[in-house]
Amino acid sequence: VNQFADLSDRVVVITGAGQGIGRGIALACARGGARVAALDVNSETIQAVCDEIKVAGGQCLPVQADCLDYRQLANAAKRIEDELGVPDCLVNNAAVQGIEQGKRYWELPPELITKVVSFNLGICAMPTRAFLEGFVRNSRGSIVNVASDAGRAGERSEPVYSAAKAGVIGLTKALAKSAGKYGVRVNAVSPATTATPFTDSLLSDDIRERMKRAYPLGRLGEPGDIAAAVRFLLSDESSWVTGQTLSVNGGYYM
Ligand SMILES: NC(=O)c1ccc[n+]([C@@H]2O[C@H](COP(=O)([O-])OP(=O)(O)OC[C@H]3O[C@@H](n4cnc5c(N)ncnc54)[C@H](O)[C@@H]3O)[C@@H](O)[C@H]2O)c1
Repeated sequence: VNQFADLSDRVVVITGAGQGIGRGIALACARGGARVAALDVNSETIQAVCDEIKVAGGQCLPVQADCLDYRQLANAAKRIEDELGVPDCLVNNAAVQGIEQGKRYWELPPELITKVVSFNLGICAMPTRAFLEGFVRNSRGSIVNVASDAGRAGERSEPVYSAAKAGVIGLTKALAKSAGKYGVRVNAVSPATTATPFTDSLLSDDIRERMKRAYPLGRLGEPGDIAAAVRFLLSDESSWVTGQTLSVNGGYYM
């Protein structure tokens, strides 16, 4: 079958795959034929995602690991290779949102600033360190980092998260430059507000309606919207695309 953004024969590692956008990416990659390693700190949610993929006839390995702990990631990489095959795609989706709780920058506890930066940059940088070496060795790989329009436009209520996500975009470009000659592409997708358990818990119906009106396409995102762009960037359909950040945002930030 000639299928757009085909991922058959690919082993795709997705961080934060237990819920929200990461779950959507895992389901979309499995539908594209990939063998999926669903990595998350939460072992219950990744088990549920893998069960869902298996019922639909796909392949999925639940991998419990903390993306901020390099040793756990190195063990995870070995386990994925043994049980699923050599990984050739990585989606850095996990993040920790909402820590700043809408406080203004000058009111934030100083230690929180270091924490939010190291969480949201480390959570992307560490898995990349754990998997990129193998991609370079095999001269094959595609990495997609889930950034945020907060990192492009600046989000008033989350200044440090915005800075960390801008850092994710910087890492994307730098690694695209150094890894390109080894056959490895590195890109980012940049969502605006997308319906997930996190945003559902945050937004009242009133705020949600007001936000929808601010989007040229008149609605918030769904995990499937982001997943379709990720799948494109992982696949050979985007074989001459690297170092780019693709906003998937209903036209919110242009
Ligand atoms: N939802 C949105 O509106 C939105 C908008 C822009 C960007 N994003 C970005 O999209 C990505 C996914 O967002 P979401 O809303 O689906 O997130 P979420 O908070 O619903 O899910 C995050 C997942 O990451 C996992 N996780 C957290 N810390 C981890 C760690 N140290 N190691 C391994 N796993 C860990 C959690 O267990 C959870 O399953 C994030 O990078 C986020 O910044 C989301």
